[in-house]
Amino acid sequence: MKKIQIAIDGPAGAGKSTIAKIVAEKLGYTYIDTGAMYRAVTYKALKQNIELDDAKGLEQMVLNTSIVLKPSEKGQLVFVDGEDVSEVIRTNEVTANVSQVSAHPNIRQILVGKQQELAAAGGIVMDGRDIGTHVLKEAELKIFMSATVEERAKRRQIDNEKRGIPSSVEQLIEEIAHRDKLDSEREASPLIQAEDAIYLDTTELSIVEAAQAILKLAEELA
Ligand code: C5P
Repeated sequence: MKKIQIAIDGPAGAGKSTIAKIVAEKLGYTYIDTGAMYRAVTYKALKQNIELDDAKGLEQMVLNTSIVLKPSEKGQLVFVDGEDVSEVIRTNEVTANVSQVSAHPNIRQILVGKQQELAAAGGIVMDGRDIGTHVLKEAELKIFMSATVEERAKRRQIDNEKRGIPSSVEQLIEEIAHRDKLDSEREASPLIQAEDAIYLDTTELSIVEAAQAILKLAEELA
Protein backbone atom coordinates (compact mmCIF):
# COMPACT_ATOMS: atom_id res chain seq x y z
CA MET A 1 0.00 0.00 0.00
CA LYS A 2 1.25 3.50 -0.80
CA LYS A 3 2.73 5.33 2.24
CA ILE A 4 1.23 8.79 2.48
CA GLN A 5 1.80 11.92 4.56
CA ILE A 6 -1.00 12.93 6.94
CA ALA A 7 -0.98 16.49 8.30
CA ILE A 8 -3.12 17.27 11.34
CA ASP A 9 -3.46 20.89 12.46
CA GLY A 10 -5.68 22.65 14.92
CA PRO A 11 -5.84 24.69 18.11
CA ALA A 12 -4.64 23.61 21.56
CA GLY A 13 -6.37 20.65 23.14
CA ALA A 14 -8.38 19.55 20.08
CA GLY A 15 -7.14 15.99 20.59
CA LYS A 16 -4.58 16.09 17.79
CA SER A 17 -1.77 14.22 19.56
CA THR A 18 -3.90 11.43 21.01
CA ILE A 19 -5.75 10.86 17.76
CA ALA A 20 -2.67 11.23 15.53
CA LYS A 21 -0.85 8.64 17.65
CA ILE A 22 -3.67 6.09 17.19
CA VAL A 23 -3.85 6.73 13.44
CA ALA A 24 -0.08 6.29 13.10
CA GLU A 25 -0.13 3.06 15.11
CA LYS A 26 -2.95 1.55 13.05
CA LEU A 27 -1.22 2.41 9.78
CA GLY A 28 2.27 1.45 10.98
CA TYR A 29 3.40 5.04 10.33
CA THR A 30 5.75 7.34 12.25
CA TYR A 31 4.08 9.92 14.47
CA ILE A 32 5.68 13.34 14.94
CA ASP A 33 4.38 15.85 17.49
CA THR A 34 5.86 19.16 16.29
CA GLY A 35 4.50 21.06 19.29
CA ALA A 36 6.95 19.08 21.41
CA MET A 37 9.83 20.58 19.42
CA TYR A 38 8.69 24.17 20.12
CA ARG A 39 8.18 23.19 23.74
CA ALA A 40 11.68 21.67 23.92
CA VAL A 41 13.22 24.92 22.63
CA THR A 42 11.17 26.95 25.11
CA TYR A 43 12.21 24.68 27.97
CA LYS A 44 15.91 25.12 27.20
CA ALA A 45 15.58 28.89 26.71
CA LEU A 46 13.89 29.24 30.11
CA LYS A 47 16.53 27.04 31.71
CA GLN A 48 19.33 29.14 30.23
CA ASN A 49 17.60 32.44 31.05
CA ILE A 50 17.56 33.54 27.41
CA GLU A 51 15.18 36.44 26.84
CA LEU A 52 12.25 35.08 24.85
CA ASP A 53 12.11 38.18 22.65
CA ASP A 54 15.79 37.82 21.72
CA ALA A 55 15.39 36.15 18.31
CA LYS A 56 19.15 36.05 17.63
CA GLY A 57 19.99 34.63 21.05
CA LEU A 58 17.33 31.97 20.67
CA GLU A 59 18.60 31.10 17.20
CA GLN A 60 22.15 30.63 18.48
CA MET A 61 20.82 28.39 21.21
CA VAL A 62 18.69 26.28 18.83
CA LEU A 63 21.60 25.83 16.41
CA ASN A 64 23.60 24.39 19.30
CA THR A 65 20.86 22.11 20.58
CA SER A 66 20.14 18.52 19.74
CA ILE A 67 16.42 17.71 19.71
CA VAL A 68 15.66 14.02 19.26
CA LEU A 69 12.20 12.48 19.05
CA LYS A 70 11.90 8.77 19.86
CA PRO A 71 8.79 6.63 19.69
CA SER A 72 8.05 4.57 22.80
CA GLU A 73 5.24 2.57 24.40
CA LYS A 74 4.19 5.72 26.28
CA GLY A 75 4.13 7.79 23.09
CA GLN A 76 6.73 10.10 21.63
CA LEU A 77 9.70 10.82 23.90
CA VAL A 78 11.65 14.07 23.52
CA PHE A 79 15.34 14.48 24.29
CA VAL A 80 17.13 17.83 24.51
CA ASP A 81 20.92 17.46 24.45
CA GLY A 82 20.45 13.89 25.65
CA GLU A 83 18.11 14.79 28.56
CA ASP A 84 14.63 13.22 28.54
CA VAL A 85 12.34 16.28 28.71
CA SER A 86 9.13 14.51 27.67
CA GLU A 87 7.33 15.40 30.91
CA VAL A 88 8.93 18.70 31.85
CA ILE A 89 7.99 20.33 28.50
CA ARG A 90 4.31 19.98 29.52
CA THR A 91 4.55 22.15 32.64
CA ASN A 92 2.50 25.35 32.96
CA GLU A 93 5.66 27.45 32.69
CA VAL A 94 6.60 26.04 29.28
CA THR A 95 2.98 26.13 28.07
CA ALA A 96 2.63 29.79 29.06
CA ASN A 97 5.74 30.82 27.10
CA VAL A 98 5.83 28.54 24.06
CA SER A 99 3.73 30.79 21.77
CA GLN A 100 6.21 33.65 22.23
CA VAL A 101 9.09 31.43 21.16
CA SER A 102 7.22 29.83 18.24
CA ALA A 103 6.33 33.25 16.81
CA HIS A 104 9.97 33.91 15.77
CA PRO A 105 10.32 33.19 12.02
CA ASN A 106 14.01 32.19 12.37
CA ILE A 107 13.20 29.58 15.02
CA ARG A 108 10.35 28.24 12.89
CA GLN A 109 12.62 27.97 9.86
CA ILE A 110 15.08 25.75 11.72
CA LEU A 111 12.42 23.49 13.23
CA VAL A 112 10.43 23.24 9.99
CA GLY A 113 13.61 22.04 8.24
CA LYS A 114 13.99 19.27 10.83
CA GLN A 115 10.32 18.35 10.50
CA GLN A 116 10.56 18.09 6.71
CA GLU A 117 13.61 15.83 7.02
CA LEU A 118 11.73 13.56 9.43
CA ALA A 119 8.76 13.35 7.04
CA ALA A 120 10.73 12.86 3.83
CA ALA A 121 10.31 9.08 3.66
CA GLY A 122 6.48 9.24 3.83
CA GLY A 123 4.42 7.00 6.10
CA ILE A 124 4.05 9.89 8.51
CA VAL A 125 1.39 11.43 10.72
CA MET A 126 2.50 14.89 11.83
CA ASP A 127 0.54 17.25 14.03
CA GLY A 128 0.98 20.93 14.78
CA ARG A 129 -0.29 24.33 13.66
CA ASP A 130 1.28 24.86 10.21
CA ILE A 131 1.78 21.33 8.91
CA GLY A 132 -0.79 21.50 6.10
CA THR A 133 -0.01 25.13 5.24
CA HIS A 134 3.82 25.12 5.39
CA VAL A 135 5.66 22.02 6.60
CA LEU A 136 4.00 19.37 4.40
CA LYS A 137 2.21 21.39 1.73
CA GLU A 138 2.04 18.31 -0.50
CA ALA A 139 0.58 15.99 2.16
CA GLU A 140 -2.00 13.67 0.60
CA LEU A 141 -4.34 14.05 3.58
CA LYS A 142 -4.79 17.24 5.60
CA ILE A 143 -7.07 17.47 8.61
CA PHE A 144 -7.96 20.60 10.54
CA MET A 145 -9.20 19.41 13.90
CA SER A 146 -11.08 21.51 16.41
CA ALA A 147 -13.64 21.41 19.24
CA THR A 148 -15.30 24.06 21.42
CA VAL A 149 -12.90 25.79 23.81
CA GLU A 150 -14.89 24.45 26.80
CA GLU A 151 -14.53 20.85 25.61
CA ARG A 152 -10.83 21.35 24.88
CA ALA A 153 -10.26 22.80 28.37
CA LYS A 154 -12.06 19.84 29.97
CA ARG A 155 -9.89 17.38 28.06
CA ARG A 156 -6.72 19.27 28.93
CA GLN A 157 -7.64 19.17 32.60
CA ILE A 158 -8.05 15.39 32.54
CA ASP A 159 -4.68 15.18 30.77
CA ASN A 160 -3.04 17.47 33.32
CA GLU A 161 -4.47 15.46 36.20
CA LYS A 162 -2.85 12.31 34.82
CA ARG A 163 0.46 14.16 34.61
CA GLY A 164 0.12 15.58 38.12
CA ILE A 165 -0.16 19.18 36.86
CA PRO A 166 -2.68 21.26 38.88
CA SER A 167 -5.24 23.24 36.81
CA SER A 168 -8.90 24.33 36.76
CA VAL A 169 -11.22 24.30 33.73
CA GLU A 170 -11.84 28.08 34.04
CA GLN A 171 -8.13 28.80 34.09
CA LEU A 172 -7.58 26.43 31.15
CA ILE A 173 -10.31 28.08 29.04
CA GLU A 174 -8.49 31.39 29.45
CA GLU A 175 -5.05 29.89 28.84
CA ILE A 176 -6.14 27.97 25.73
CA ALA A 177 -8.06 30.91 24.25
CA HIS A 178 -5.04 33.16 24.81
CA ARG A 179 -2.61 30.67 23.23
CA ASP A 180 -4.96 30.17 20.22
CA LYS A 181 -5.12 33.93 19.75
CA LEU A 182 -1.32 34.29 19.76
CA ASP A 183 -0.88 31.29 17.44
CA SER A 184 -3.59 32.47 15.02
CA GLU A 185 -2.59 36.12 14.89
CA ARG A 186 1.20 35.80 14.57
CA GLU A 187 2.73 36.81 11.27
CA ALA A 188 4.90 33.73 10.64
CA SER A 189 2.84 30.69 9.62
CA PRO A 190 -0.21 31.40 11.76
CA LEU A 191 -2.63 28.68 12.80
CA ILE A 192 -5.06 28.58 9.90
CA GLN A 193 -6.93 25.86 8.02
CA ALA A 194 -5.22 24.93 4.74
CA GLU A 195 -7.51 25.37 1.74
CA ASP A 196 -7.32 21.66 0.96
CA ALA A 197 -7.75 20.48 4.56
CA ILE A 198 -10.81 18.59 5.79
CA TYR A 199 -12.42 20.12 8.89
CA LEU A 200 -13.06 17.67 11.71
CA ASP A 201 -15.04 18.88 14.73
CA THR A 202 -14.26 16.51 17.60
CA THR A 203 -16.55 18.15 20.21
CA GLU A 204 -19.07 15.30 20.02
CA LEU A 205 -16.66 12.58 18.93
CA SER A 206 -14.84 10.04 21.06
CA ILE A 207 -11.13 9.54 20.46
CA VAL A 208 -11.84 6.27 18.68
CA GLU A 209 -14.51 7.84 16.45
CA ALA A 210 -12.21 10.69 15.44
CA ALA A 211 -9.35 8.28 14.70
CA GLN A 212 -11.69 6.08 12.65
CA ALA A 213 -12.84 9.07 10.59
CA ILE A 214 -9.22 9.87 9.68
CA LEU A 215 -8.33 6.22 9.02
CA LYS A 216 -11.27 5.94 6.62
CA LEU A 217 -10.05 8.99 4.68
CA ALA A 218 -6.50 7.61 4.65
CA GLU A 219 -7.65 4.21 3.35
CA GLU A 220 -9.47 5.90 0.48
CA LEU A 221 -6.20 7.55 -0.56
CA ALA A 222 -3.60 4.88 0.03
O1 C5P B 1 0.70 21.15 20.17
P1 C5P B 1 1.14 21.89 21.43
O2 C5P B 1 0.00 22.48 22.18
O3 C5P B 1 2.06 21.09 22.29
O4 C5P B 1 2.01 23.10 20.85
C1 C5P B 1 2.64 24.02 21.69
C2 C5P B 1 2.84 25.34 20.96
O5 C5P B 1 3.85 25.18 19.96
C3 C5P B 1 1.65 25.93 20.23
O6 C5P B 1 0.80 26.67 21.08
C4 C5P B 1 2.31 26.81 19.18
O7 C5P B 1 2.69 28.05 19.73
C5 C5P B 1 3.58 26.05 18.86
N1 C5P B 1 3.49 25.26 17.65
C6 C5P B 1 3.68 25.90 16.45
N2 C5P B 1 3.71 25.18 15.29
C7 C5P B 1 3.56 23.85 15.30
C8 C5P B 1 3.34 23.17 16.51
C9 C5P B 1 3.28 23.91 17.68
O8 C5P B 1 3.82 27.11 16.40
N3 C5P B 1 3.65 23.18 14.15
